[in-house]
Amino acid sequence: MVKVTDFEKLEKWQRDLVNKAESVMKNAYNLFSHFYVGAALLTDKGKTYVGTFAENSSQGLTVCAEVAAILSANTDGERKFKAIAVIGGSENFDCKEPVTPCGRCRQFINDYAEIGEYDIEIICSNTKKDKIFITTIKELLPLAFGPKDVGLDLKKFRRKSI
Ligand code: THU
Repeated sequence: MVKVTDFEKLEKWQRDLVNKAESVMKNAYNLFSHFYVGAALLTDKGKTYVGTFAENSSQGLTVCAEVAAILSANTDGERKFKAIAVIGGSENFDCKEPVTPCGRCRQFINDYAEIGEYDIEIICSNTKKDKIFITTIKELLPLAFGPKDVGLDLKKFRRKSI
């Protein structure tokens, strides 16, 4: 069940992850939305990777903050993740609710949960950090279609290899 809490009640590692996500939120390339989102990904080894989103002048090509963080980790050879923090809001109105990963991001995150054999924790925050959801990818994307369904040897993709 989704846990609803606030920043002060989080464990220290969760607060650190939310703060890292917050630190890159300002860099969102938000040409059209006037929105801000930051993401921070924690690997099984305790390393973190951050990302923010980029819209595009052609429209329809947005890369979300979560995907940016995952691609940064993957570029560094990391594919096994424990948790991802997502924080954001609009500059035009007061977003009281935490930002949750969009449907495409859920699908994107799910591959790494299956390959890493770990139900990745998802920590979602509003910009004021006074409302936080704690959930997991399995909860946000039940009955997901993923690597297991296309007959892949999951172990083979756990780490980069040449
Ligand atoms: N956005 C993200 O980066 N992650 C999400 O999970 C939700 C939405 C971005 C994409 C878009 O450019 C902006 O927020 C407004 O929807």
